[in-house]
Amino acid sequence: MEVSLRRSPLATRPADLLAVGVHEGQKLSGAALALDRATRGAVRAVLAAGDFRAKPDDTALLYPKGVRAKRVLLVGMGPRAGSGPAQTAAAAARAAREARELGAKSLAVAVHEGDAPSEQEALAIGEGLVLGHYRHTAYRRDGKPPVARAEALASGSVAKTAALSLARGAVRGEAVCLARDLANTPSQDLVPDRLAARAREVAKAVGAKATVLDVPAMERLGMGCVLAVGRGSANPPRFIVLDKAPTIAPPKGARPAPVVVVGKGVTFDTGGYSLKPREGMGKMKYDMSGAAAVIGLFAASATLELPFRLVGLVPSAENMVSGGAVKPGDVVRALDGTTVEITNTDAEGRLLLADALGYAKRFEPGTVVDLATLTGAIAIALGRAAAGLFTRDDALAAELVAAGEAAGERLWRMPLWDGYLAEMKGETADLVNSNEKREGGSCTAAAFLGHFARGLRWAHLDIASTAWTHGERADSPKGANAFGVRLLVRWLEALAAARA
Ligand code: BES
Ligand code: ZN
Ligand code: ZN
Repeated sequence: MEVSLRRSPLATRPADLLAVGVHEGQKLSGAALALDRATRGAVRAVLAAGDFRAKPDDTALLYPKGVRAKRVLLVGMGPRAGSGPAQTAAAAARAAREARELGAKSLAVAVHEGDAPSEQEALAIGEGLVLGHYRHTAYRRDGKPPVARAEALASGSVAKTAALSLARGAVRGEAVCLARDLANTPSQDLVPDRLAARAREVAKAVGAKATVLDVPAMERLGMGCVLAVGRGSANPPRFIVLDKAPTIAPPKGARPAPVVVVGKGVTFDTGGYSLKPREGMGKMKYDMSGAAAVIGLFAASATLELPFRLVGLVPSAENMVSGGAVKPGDVVRALDGTTVEITNTDAEGRLLLADALGYAKRFEPGTVVDLATLTGAIAIALGRAAAGLFTRDDALAAELVAAGEAAGERLWRMPLWDGYLAEMKGETADLVNSNEKREGGSCTAAAFLGHFARGLRWAHLDIASTAWTHGERADSPKGANAFGVRLLVRWLEALAAARA
């Protein structure tokens, strides 16, 4: 979908669908008022009938006289007070989704506050249009024809910077869609080596370096945990390293340390010999959602100016059952030398992350953030409303929570008390990978990771509660939603601003 910003009165612009944002309340203004005038009161009539109240999820489809567009969609934006980029993005997403469902080939939108969108609004519109338009159609014969062209209309003069921001927003949206496509892909077609190939493509496109460690390379390094998880599969594990140099000079005298993001890349999780129940096992193709978020972040990094090096680490494996698979009771040695008794082969994500956190240290990072669909227990604790945030660093917690709020990707802080790690101490080996208790499952998993993150400024996001959407949302259909990409983009943006 091509996205652009154009100065044009909304009444005279031809389009298959014209979408106009309407705020709740007595007085019409901006685009809604202009539309009402052009159509001799069509907007007021719908509001007066009570069929459309301009609440955030309200829409109304009209076929009025007085505009050149084939149809008009009123998009509710809620009250004007407190409305910001998030509301603008949601309205743009809603418009793009309806356009797609209507089979519209061209879409024009006016969902911003004034005569022309501000930079922030333009960014939100670009991102929202692309996200709302997203469907995973690779495996369908009836994927509706997508909208070819989407324009944001401005009645006033358009600043060059706004046009650039719109394009930037669209690139970010596409990065999120790329991550969604990765996670939605059936595991048969996204084995570790294929995930590595996709990561390489993204790296190339954004000027980052990609290095992929194969089994012999991991053996040489001593990544016993990744190797153990991958051993049961015909599709061997990979360890993917993405590395992007700073894109702007740091302030004089400053040498900002690299930021490392780590994503769990289990392309399918059967549980291994600690086999999962059959119900819902198909969802475990999403067990590489953390990896997808990291790769999506690199795709979005084209829109970021960072004064520090950005490193992405993706340990990837398929957790399978076979004659060669790891068995409960086996003991492995992690990259940092810690020995781990694998008491439960289904607690594989923490094993992959253990080696990735060990590997992260070689970059002497300022901060490390990992994203992982790590535990079912996090959804028991938080429902689907938030991902779990675990860190010992209060400032880092505040940074990430704020970024999540701004992105519409909520985090809720969870504890990392010492007692949880005590539960993971082993008898045969230094640690066990599961204490075989359900209570506090997300916290003991995080504490296990904390052992391997010793000395790092580190946060862990357990995204098992949020990585895929169960019902439709304006900005995401059912399925993988690439949780984390937008959050990380905003977090890095804030970090860069603080250091610039
Ligand atoms: N990939 C799962 C976690 C998961 C479960 C993600 C449901 C999304 C939805 C992870 O590898 C796992 O199996 N964790 C176990 C840990 C247990 C064995 C200690 C779990 O959550 O049951
Ligand atoms: Zn598992
Ligand atoms: Zn898993």
